[in-house]
Amino acid sequence: MKDQLLQAIRERKAVVAVVGLGYVGLPLAVAFAERGFPVVGIDVDPQKVAALGRAESYVQDIPSERLAALRERFTATTDYAALAGCDAAIICVPTPLNKTRDPDVRYLISAGESTAQHIHPGMLICLESTTYPGTTEELLLPMLTAPAVLERLGVASFEVGKDFFLAFSPERIDPGRKDFMVENTPKVVGGVTPACLEAAAALYGSAIERIVPVSSTQAAEMVKLLENTFRAVNIALVNEVAIMCDKLGIDVWEVIDAAASKPYGFMKFTPGPGVGGHCIPLDPHYLSWKLKTLNYNARFVQLAGEINTEMPRYWVDKVQDALNEHGKAMKGSTVLVLGVAYKKDVDDVRESPALDIIELLRAKGARVRFHDPYITTLTHNGHGIAGEPDLERALDAADCVVIVTDHSVYDWRDVARRARCLVDTRHVALA
Ligand SMILES: NC(=O)c1ccc[n+]([C@@H]2O[C@H](COP(=O)([O-])OP(=O)(O)OC[C@H]3O[C@@H](n4cnc5c(N)ncnc54)[C@H](O)[C@@H]3O)[C@@H](O)[C@H]2O)c1
Repeated sequence: MKDQLLQAIRERKAVVAVVGLGYVGLPLAVAFAERGFPVVGIDVDPQKVAALGRAESYVQDIPSERLAALRERFTATTDYAALAGCDAAIICVPTPLNKTRDPDVRYLISAGESTAQHIHPGMLICLESTTYPGTTEELLLPMLTAPAVLERLGVASFEVGKDFFLAFSPERIDPGRKDFMVENTPKVVGGVTPACLEAAAALYGSAIERIVPVSSTQAAEMVKLLENTFRAVNIALVNEVAIMCDKLGIDVWEVIDAAASKPYGFMKFTPGPGVGGHCIPLDPHYLSWKLKTLNYNARFVQLAGEINTEMPRYWVDKVQDALNEHGKAMKGSTVLVLGVAYKKDVDDVRESPALDIIELLRAKGARVRFHDPYITTLTHNGHGIAGEPDLERALDAADCVVIVTDHSVYDWRDVARRARCLVDTRHVALA
């Protein structure tokens, strides 16, 4: 089984399915198709599938022209039955949190169950969704070897590492980034068995420059959580340092830049409005949830989460203070939020701290407007807010301007000149 799969991979004849065609899945599907593999994308969203059928991209980093060039090799469907003709399936579905901030694995379960209905001998399944250590073996493996699978295949056993292969490989995509893409970002891979690792490493190795094998799926799952927790904790630390410097009357940027001159033992992180995106605010909770089941309290994760989530409130207090200095009350003032994407130069608002800032400003009675070159309309908590199309007019009409997202297209000095009252969550001195 394994040798056949390895040969199909070597010859680029292995048909690769990518399940979940979002920010992670679509670039991955394109990477495999561009390396000559036939690729089938599977997504439950018929609008995405229809857009891909027209070679229209909805992911900023993948221009439609790249899709158009792949018409022969990349097709998309909503029908999992397509897995019957695939040699490998890579699962990239969302792993959000539920209302109580615990892992919401319902998309994973749904994708796992649908895959189990079509898995066949010799197939390689890889999970890429960020999740708690143990998911691949505790959640996915039992679905793929359930009695219904054996019955459908008419076999007495369906053994992982022998009859099919299962691995975990965390996605490291950084949307908006131009220097590190899927192809040249080292890929960590862990298999349930050595044969699973070999198969998964062969597949990824044919599209990605460097593979970093680890000894288990649990280790591979933990790698991703370490990476994201590391960022969450360090961002929280520097946010707290910024608050401390503010209280001490010290310029935090002067301190950070001077500390960054140390050639070893210091890594520069920058303070800001909080954390956003699909990874940093959510993934560490997968880790702390898992540890809670083992009666361990992941204290760093919890503290970092608390500090980062409090940042929008800190900044809204700053807006109130700034308006006050101009003799204005928050209630009834027009506040313009500049940049609502969760980070610079992307069109994604998921978990953006700008959303919390807007909500808190509104709760205090401000008339909130926003401008973002990448986002025209915001829907948050059921409210639709249209962006201001004309930046200059919006600046002139605002009682206070809050800089949230550091998009490169903005001329911040010009903004600072025009704004009657300015709060800069990037802590940058513009005056
Ligand atoms: N976006 C990032 O920057 C990033 C980076 C690294 C890792 N990740 C992780 O990768 C995973 C996917 O994230 P994303 O940003 O691509 O999410 P996304 O929401 O952009 O895309 C997920 C896609 O999966 C589809 N989907 C949902 N349920 C499905 C099912 N049962 N079968 C088939 N398709 C289904 C959705 O329609 C959507 O198109 C998450 O676990 C995330 O934490 C994301």
